[in-house]
Formats: sequence, structure tokens, C-alpha cells
Amino acid sequence: MKKVNWGIIGLGKIANKFAEDLSATRTAQLYAVASRSSENALSFAEKHGAKAGYGSYEQIMQDEKVDVIYIATPHVFHHELTVQCLKNGKAILCEKPFAMNIKEAREMIKLSRKEGVFLMEALWTRFLPHFQLVMDKVQSGEMGKIKSLKADFGFKAEFDKSKRLFNKDLGGGSLLDIGIYPVFLAYSLLGKPDKIEAKARFTETNVDASCDIRFNYNDGVQAELFSTLLEKTPTTGEIELEKGKIFLNSRFHEPTSVRITSEGNEETFDFGVKTRGYNFEAEHVTKMLQQGKTESDIWPLDKTLGLMELLDAIREQIGLEY
Ligand SMILES: NC(=O)c1ccc[n+]([C@@H]2O[C@H](COP(=O)([O-])OP(=O)(O)OC[C@H]3O[C@@H](n4cnc5c(N)ncnc54)[C@H](OP(=O)(O)O)[C@@H]3O)[C@@H](O)[C@H]2O)c1
Repeated sequence: MKKVNWGIIGLGKIANKFAEDLSATRTAQLYAVASRSSENALSFAEKHGAKAGYGSYEQIMQDEKVDVIYIATPHVFHHELTVQCLKNGKAILCEKPFAMNIKEAREMIKLSRKEGVFLMEALWTRFLPHFQLVMDKVQSGEMGKIKSLKADFGFKAEFDKSKRLFNKDLGGGSLLDIGIYPVFLAYSLLGKPDKIEAKARFTETNVDASCDIRFNYNDGVQAELFSTLLEKTPTTGEIELEKGKIFLNSRFHEPTSVRITSEGNEETFDFGVKTRGYNFEAEHVTKMLQQGKTESDIWPLDKTLGLMELLDAIREQIGLEY
């Protein structure tokens, strides 16, 4: 079968990691990359073996040989770039958070469905083997129902007003950057909460430095979720079920191991992933395209919308508007 030709827009930190993992797949190849700067595009293309390095984002959208584009710019540009790419018939894998708010997300999804062009949020954790094991364990019901869930994600980021993480104009703040992972974990395993409580600490640039979230479910189940840019935290997930506990070891959003304790037994599952883990989502997108699908059957667009709604609801509680 013909290899799927990938393109990348926005050649920053995550684009580099993604490109490395793409080379570990057998069904896909990096074909072209696009940057705001020709110099950056050419050196990135050379480093990762791409055939073309474009000095503008528009050029890659017009390259007929490019099958799918990975959008790896700051969040605030996801909507506009996705719209432009879809209009040019390009399938899209768009970095998380998918958009800045539900309005943008709905527009992107509507267009993908209208044009019949593939679109997926790059929620890569959903495609990792340890996460699939956790989903399977919980959904099988063998450990009973979930009683509570806790997850955190924190690292210390040097404060810099101009940088993506702290700059409000670039969609800064902990929630959309890393808080999305604890929220995703609770949403995937427990569904949408009946009530959300959230509070945040703000930076002088008016984005959330930390965000403390509680999801309450009518059956009494609670999820405690936390994100911060102020300090390193364990970055683990802990799920208490009727018949035991599941621990997603640090850092739970990337390839890691899972420990399960149940009825006096303890078992650790290690998956020996040798890459950073981005190849799993890339392989999935490639497979969907080869099958002629216009959305993922594992992380479909309705799930992306549901996650976006939760992020919007949390932002409303903490008073953060973009
Ligand atoms: N899945 C993951 O594990 C993961 C990890 C980190 C980040 N992310 C997501 O990926 C996206 C990018 O994050 P990153 O850490 O890679 O960011 P980054 O290092 O700042 O790179 C972003 C790139 O976007 C392009 N860009 C376009 N307009 C820009 C502007 N006005 N200011 C700054 N950059 C601009 C730049 O590329 P050119 O100069 O080449 O055009 C820049 O290098 C974010 O949405 C983030 O949430 C995902």
C-alpha cells in the first residue's frame, strides 16, 4: 500500500518530537513541512528527511502530494489553520487543545463534515497502550464501578511574558496546555460530570498558573484534577474502584506503566514503548485515511466537542476568557 504523505505546520518543540516518531511508522512518511521562516523550514526538512520545506503555511496546503497535515502551532491558530487546510482538501491532525472554545471547535467540525475531509484532535494519550489497558479494565467491569479518581499534571515553567505558556494572546495558561490531560482522563472514564467546581491562581499576564478542578457526579463519585505551571507534581492518575485500584504511573499522559491492586494482588503492566509515543496516533490517522474514513473511530469529533465543553465550563468557573 502507498505510504501516506504527512505535512507539518509550525516547526516548534512538539513538531520535532512528532517528526521523530513519524519516522518509526511503516505506513507514513514525512513529506513536507511549513514554517513562517524558510530557513527554519529547510533545516527542519533536512533534519527529518522531508522532501519539501516551505517558508509559508499556504504553500504546504497547496502541495498536491501532501495527504494529511499535522498542525503544531500555538492553540490560538488551530481554528484558522484547520479551516484553511480543510478548504484545500487536506486531512488534519490538530494539536490539543483542538481550539480555544466550543464555538471554534464546532465550526472546524462542521466544515470537516461538510467537505468530507478527515479531522482529528491530536489527543495522543488516547492511543497509548497503557491508556487502552486502563480503558479496557474499567469498561470490562471486572473491578466494579469507579468510586473516585485523582489526576494531576504540573511542571515548573520559567515565567516569560512573551512565551506561549504565559502569553494570553497565544492561549497561555495551565488548563489548556496540561490540565487538559487530567480532564481527559476523568471524561474518558467517568463521562461528563453533573457539577463542576474549579478555582485558579493567575499570573500577572492573566492566564491560569494553576487550576484546581473537582468533577461531581450524581452518584457521589468525585474526580479531583489539578494542573500547574508553578511546580513539578507527580503527574499520575489514581482510580479507586469497588474491587481495587489502578495507578497510572508518572507521567500518566505519555508512555508509562500501570499498576493494578485488587483483592490482595498487585500487578504492573509495562509496555516497553521505545518511541515518545506519537507514532500511535500517527499510525491511527494513517489507517483511517487508508480506509477512507473522515473521522477517527477511537477519538471521534463528538468526544473532542465534549472535552472542549468541559474546558469551557472550567474556564467559566475560574473567569478565564480568551
Ligand atoms: N501532544 C503533546 O504532547 C504536546 C506537547 C507540547 C505541545 N503540544 C501542543 O502543540 C502546540 C505547539 O506547542 P509547542 O510546545 O510545540 O510550541 P512552540 O515550541 O512554541 O512551537 C510552536 C510553533 O508554532 C509556530 N507559530 C506560528 N505562529 C506563532 C506565533 N505567533 N508565536 C509562536 N509560534 C508560532 C512556530 O513555528 P514556525 O516558526 O515554524 O512557523 C512555532 O515554532 C500547542 O497547541 C500545544 O498545546 C502538544
